[in-house]
Amino acid sequence: MLPYGKQSISDEDIQAVVETLKSDFITTGPKVNEFEDVVAKFADAKFAIAVSNGTAALHCAMFAIGIEPGDEVIVPTLTFAASANCVLYQGGTVIFADSLSESLLIDPADVEKKITDKTKAVIAVDYAGQPCDYDSLRKICDKHGLFLISDACHSIGSEYKGRKTGSIADITCFSFHPVKHITTGEGGMALTNNARFAEKMRSFRGHGITTDFRQREEKGGHFYEMVELGFNYRITDFQCALGISQLKRLPSWIKRRQEIAAKYDATFANIANITPLRTSQNISNAYHLYVIQLDDHLDRDKIFCELRKAGIGVNVHYIPVHMHPYYQKLHAEQNIEVKCDIAAEAYKHIISIPMFPTMGDKDVEEVLKIVSTATVKL
Ligand SMILES: Cc1ncc(COP(=O)(O)O)c(C=O)c1O
Repeated sequence: MLPYGKQSISDEDIQAVVETLKSDFITTGPKVNEFEDVVAKFADAKFAIAVSNGTAALHCAMFAIGIEPGDEVIVPTLTFAASANCVLYQGGTVIFADSLSESLLIDPADVEKKITDKTKAVIAVDYAGQPCDYDSLRKICDKHGLFLISDACHSIGSEYKGRKTGSIADITCFSFHPVKHITTGEGGMALTNNARFAEKMRSFRGHGITTDFRQREEKGGHFYEMVELGFNYRITDFQCALGISQLKRLPSWIKRRQEIAAKYDATFANIANITPLRTSQNISNAYHLYVIQLDDHLDRDKIFCELRKAGIGVNVHYIPVHMHPYYQKLHAEQNIEVKCDIAAEAYKHIISIPMFPTMGDKDVEEVLKIVSTATVKL
């Protein structure tokens, strides 16, 4: 089965992990800072806080901007549940926004419609690897005094109008799960240019304690204070060693993802039944996923099964979060009516086809042949 996404681990990656395992620090050591520094530099951000996963990074962001009970946060419904769950962890209320039909990114006009006097922030999700319409979102956020958070778990290495993802929103969150662009097994990072947010997130990662073990060792003291209620969201040094090693290959991996996407685009342009997502001008799309939308008359689930049977490991990203039983129940209790018609309709027609940088040209041709045939046949 050709999977829809797959990590690549080199001998050099393994060597880096082994060296760190043999060093004095396997957690809260120098590799954590080094990983933060190289990612911050790569993404043009002043501060970076490495954490145990992308969900933890989003939770850190919600804490830093002070989300608390009574606050509303606008989140696109077409995303992974974690983009919304982070709001609930802080006791906030999730208000779902609809998608734009061609890109399936959050619709700024729908965001503006859903703002109330309780709204405190917008979480923009760079769905499939394409940055959202940040100019419009920033304008709306500034007008209404809202924080703009970027869930960039799909889009490390992408660019919006020449600006690196990581430098645009008030806080940007990355994930290093194995299907993502670079991996640390599990891992995540929150980036910001705001020193106060950075300090809050650093403390939140470590139980709300103001110093970490290594800082105290260096000073030779034992004293520490817990000043806020935080979590243990630490990442280990050997994971960070893997991340540092992986990051070196990220630019070439993105180039390869873009090459594969160009081949897919060129073929699908001639197939009436299939519409790929549209990438806007002035965007460098990092293509975490390659999502196609099937025409109305095609049965997505039938095609999904056909493709799997033919060895193409397709997936569906995502069931809109507001349709999950947990959110249905929660929003019924909160008397919140969710209206996200475009995302709900898109869900019936989307399929993610294989997209990872170590796919060979033969793999790409095989995918194109099988996908094209399946959609014509049914
Ligand atoms: C859009 C989005 N946000 C958040 C996350 C959460 O990241 P993690 O799995 O590292 O916690 C994911 C991961 O799949 C994701 O796709």
